[in-house]
Amino acid sequence: MKTFTTRRAIREYLCAQGSATIGFVPTMGALHNGHLSLIAQAKQANDITVCSIFVNPTQFNDAKDLKKYPRPIEADMAKLELAGCDILFNPAVNEMYDGNEQWHLDVGRLEYLLEGEFRPGHYQGVMQVVFKLLDIVKPTNLYMGQKDYQQIMVVNKMIELLNIPVNIVMCPIEREADGLAMSSRNVHLTAEDRQHALVLSKTLNWVKDNFDRLNIAELQQQAMDKLAAEEGVEPEYFRIVDGKMLLHASENTQIIVALTAARVGKTRLLDNVLIR
Ligand code: PAJ
Repeated sequence: MKTFTTRRAIREYLCAQGSATIGFVPTMGALHNGHLSLIAQAKQANDITVCSIFVNPTQFNDAKDLKKYPRPIEADMAKLELAGCDILFNPAVNEMYDGNEQWHLDVGRLEYLLEGEFRPGHYQGVMQVVFKLLDIVKPTNLYMGQKDYQQIMVVNKMIELLNIPVNIVMCPIEREADGLAMSSRNVHLTAEDRQHALVLSKTLNWVKDNFDRLNIAELQQQAMDKLAAEEGVEPEYFRIVDGKMLLHASENTQIIVALTAARVGKTRLLDNVLIR
């Protein structure tokens, strides 16, 4: 695997590869099998697979969360090597941002719903860095996880609005054997948190199984109650929405997704399930 830390060097290398197709997997590192499943999908469909590891400061609205974000770069590089990733882009913060940059792109209500309500400004930071990374890597295909469902919708909207020539591929959520969605933040869970955290995937599955039996308002309320009843778990939201705009779903909506976020101990976790 070739590793680049400057935009210029990776750009020069990729330009020299002519018309090779590029599959790109942007990450913040602390890689787990969820990330590696994206690499595997990219490898299957492209000539060159590029992964970026960059803990992007502009998408964190909590300085403590940024500081404690895990950064096991040696282990990450070994995992990427084993997964057959061709190129790693691992820039420092001052390589990606020089000074006082402004960024704002209006993507409408998408930005303010769900995660946007609890993490103001988060998606502007995500778009800012993904825009920069796409401009550097210029991939054919961009691989992102359903785990961060709203993030995909926001990036998709940006790509549409700015006419960026890239195809987004949404990859399924990789889970631990007991159902917990894999996440870089899971390392912060204590052994007890780890058990309590199972209530997220269990509740999502319960909603999916009972979708034809109860109405959406009842499902949302009962799901919030189940989350809140679990020791150490503080639910932030549990919403059943239409899979495109993330607004109210009705029983007739075509794509329906249930999304949740909760604090488990000191760790904030996300999960979701496609209901149909
Ligand atoms: P990060 O949280 O490292 O996630 C990188 C990619 O891996 C995202 O597309 C995410 O949805 C996907 N992913 C995470 N957990 C997964 C799982 N259990 N199964 C499948 N895919 C999973 O998301 C980010 O980084 C950043 O916001 C980024 C897009 C890199 C911009 O900074």
